[in-house]
Amino acid sequence: MPETRKVFIKTYGCQMNVYDSERMAESLVSQGYAETEDPGDADMIVLNTCHIREKAAEKVYSELGRIRQLKSARQSEGKETIVAVAGCVAQAEGAEVFARAPVVDLVVGPQAYHRLPALAATARSERRQVIDTEFPDEDKFAGLPERKGPRPAAAFLTVQEGCDKFCTFCVVPYTRGMEISRPVAQVMEEAHRLVGQGVREITLLGQNVNAYHGDGPDGRPWSLSKLLAELAGIERLERLRYTTSHPLDMDDALIEAHRGLPELMPYLHLPFQAGSDRILAAMNRKHTASDYLRIVERVREARPDIALSTDVIVGFPGETDEEFQQTLDLVREVGFAQAFSFKYSARPGTPAANIDGQVPEDVKADRLARLQELLQSQQSRFNAGCIGKIVPVLFEKLGRRAGQLIGRSPYLQAVHAEAQPGLLGRILPVEISGAGVNSLAGIVR
Ligand code: SAH
Ligand code: SF4
Ligand code: F3S
Repeated sequence: MPETRKVFIKTYGCQMNVYDSERMAESLVSQGYAETEDPGDADMIVLNTCHIREKAAEKVYSELGRIRQLKSARQSEGKETIVAVAGCVAQAEGAEVFARAPVVDLVVGPQAYHRLPALAATARSERRQVIDTEFPDEDKFAGLPERKGPRPAAAFLTVQEGCDKFCTFCVVPYTRGMEISRPVAQVMEEAHRLVGQGVREITLLGQNVNAYHGDGPDGRPWSLSKLLAELAGIERLERLRYTTSHPLDMDDALIEAHRGLPELMPYLHLPFQAGSDRILAAMNRKHTASDYLRIVERVREARPDIALSTDVIVGFPGETDEEFQQTLDLVREVGFAQAFSFKYSARPGTPAANIDGQVPEDVKADRLARLQELLQSQQSRFNAGCIGKIVPVLFEKLGRRAGQLIGRSPYLQAVHAEAQPGLLGRILPVEISGAGVNSLAGIVR
C-alpha cells in the first residue's frame, strides 16, 4: 500500500476562492489525499491565487520563493512535491507563471480545477509542467465529488460565477470568464447536503450574485430573490446571506426579500467604488452616486436595521481631490457598518491601466488613510450602537481563550462570549456588553 499523499492548500483573495479551495480539497481527498496544515509535510502544495490588485498577485510569487526552498529540502530527503498554482493568477498569467517561478509544476484556472487530481497525476508521472486554463464545456461543479462528515455552522455556496460588467479597473471578467449561474436544482441539492452536515447559515456567492438567473425546475430562469425564498424553505437552514452585489442588479423583488424573508439576514454588501459621477462613468459602473443613494434608501425602507457594507477605490486614474471628496461625502451620507477600501492598482490588460493621469502613490495613500479613518469611525459607531442589545448569535468556532466561543450576529459582526463547545452550531440570544472596531463581546442570556 502506498502511503497517503498529503496536500496543503493556501487560499488568497475572495470568498469564491475559499469555496473553490474547499471543493479542490474535497476532490483531492476523494482521490486518496489527506489534508495537512504543514506545507513541509505536503506531497502537493496548492496556492489558490488572486489577481485583483498587484499586491495580491505579488504575494503569490514571494510564497513561491519560500516553497522553492522547501521543495529542494524535501528533494534532498528523496521526497517529491508537486506545486500547483490555481485560481486567478493562473488564469491571468498562464504559462508565464512557469517562466517567473520554475518551481511550479501545475497551473490550473478557476474553471478547470475539477481536473486537478488528473492533472497532478500527469505532472507526477510524466515529470513535466502541466497547464489547464481552459473554460471547458462540461460543468465543473457536476464533476466534483462531495465531502462527507460534519461541517462548521456557516458555509459558502457559489451560485454564480464570472462577470460581464467590465468595470474598467477590474480583472475578474478576464480571470473568471463570462457570467454563468448554476441551475436551481443543483444549488438546492448542495444546500440540502450542507444542512444535513450541520450547516445553519449559507452565504450564496457570486462575483455578481444578484444577477443570478439559474435555470429553474419550471424551465424558466430564476432570480436571486426566488432562489432565496426556495432556500428559506429548507428546514434547519436558519440564516441566508448573499455577496457580492452590483447596484444595477438590485431589483425590487430582492429589496422586498429583505422585508419579507426572515431567514435573510439584515446585511448587504453593495460596492459603490467612487462618489464622483465622472469617475463612475470612467469606471464603466453604469450607475451614478444618486442611483446608489436611492437603492440604499429603498433597502432601508424595507429593512430599517440593515447593516450596509461596501467596496471603495481611491485614486482611480484622473481622480481629483474634489472628486475624492465626493467619495467621502457619499460615505458620510450612507453610513456604513463595514467597508473594504483600496488604492487603485493598474492591472495589465484592463482599460483603466492605459488612461492618462495615473494618480501618484503618495496621493493615493493619503486619500486611503483619510477614507479609512472615516469608515473606521462609522464601523466603531455601528458596533457601539449594539451595546446593551440582545442579539441572536450563531456560534461557529472555538474562541482563542478556553471556554469562549465566537459567533456572528445577524449584522455579520464577530461576537465573543463565554459558552460551552456543545453550543457550536446553535443560535442563542447574547447581550452585547462591549464593542471594538472589529468585534463585539457579550453574555449568553
Ligand atoms: N464583483 C464584486 C467585487 C470584485 S473585486 C463587485 O463588483 O462588487 C472586489 C473589490 O476589489 C472591488 O469591489 C473593488 O473595490 C476592488 N478592486 C477591483 N479591482 C481593483 C483594482 N484594479 N484596484 C483596486 N481595487 C480593485
Ligand atoms: Fe469586477 Fe465590476 Fe465585475 Fe465587480 S462588476 S467583478 S468590479 S468587472
Ligand atoms: Fe481575486 Fe479572483 Fe476573487 S482575482 S477577488 S480571487 S475572483
